[in-house]
Amino acid sequence: MQKGVAQYMGEVVVAITGASGAIYGKRLTECLSNLGVQVRLVVTESGELTLAHECQTDKETIAANYSAILEDGKNVAAKSASGSANIDAVVICPCSGTTLGKLAAGIGDNLVTRSAIVALKERRKLIIVPREAPYATAHLENMAKLSSWNTIIIPASPGFYNHPQSIDDLVDFIVARILDQLGLEHDIGKRWTGKEIQ
Ligand SMILES: Cc1cc2nc3c(=O)[nH]c(=O)nc-3n(C[C@H](O)[C@H](O)[C@H](O)COP(=O)(O)O)c2cc1C
Repeated sequence: MQKGVAQYMGEVVVAITGASGAIYGKRLTECLSNLGVQVRLVVTESGELTLAHECQTDKETIAANYSAILEDGKNVAAKSASGSANIDAVVICPCSGTTLGKLAAGIGDNLVTRSAIVALKERRKLIIVPREAPYATAHLENMAKLSSWNTIIIPASPGFYNHPQSIDDLVDFIVARILDQLGLEHDIGKRWTGKEIQ
């Protein structure tokens, strides 16, 4: 596992789209910042709505609080969407069914989708955190397609085996799985030891 920024030389794009669960993207940005990783934050228009509705905050505040570089979600010329830029990974957290569908169709019509398509073509790590209930067959087929293209899919479905005591614990369960997949050492949430059930 990589430890902090010394081995993690590039930047990570965190994209918040309009699925419920904006708090996951907010907390992920905070944790990456605490680990010394430079975040480029991109929020779709619908993501701005859910951030305001669910977290009573906005992208400018998150960027300022966690030293993230805020990019214009409509600007496909931004660094996050560049194939030659030093970007290590793109995490769409949460990922709406709309964004999921665009990716499965190869559509890069805004900075979030374009950054993700660039990640696919450059073989960069792409992680998506979809949330919907129930899933339409279209969602499931789109996830299967993206998975076959090496996208890591972490559903916004926290586990309960570590006895979460708060919403923050549930959020951290998912954020910890994302950090694991990014290869970052961290102490977010509890890990299973194997001694819990005797
Ligand atoms: C309050 C609210 C909650 C939403 N929750 C979800 C959700 O959990 N999953 C989803 O796929 N779409 C959800 N949507 C719909 C998306 O925001 C909508 O499909 C939008 O087109 C997504 O666009 P984007 O992917 O560009 O952000 C929600 C919308 C609102 C207003």
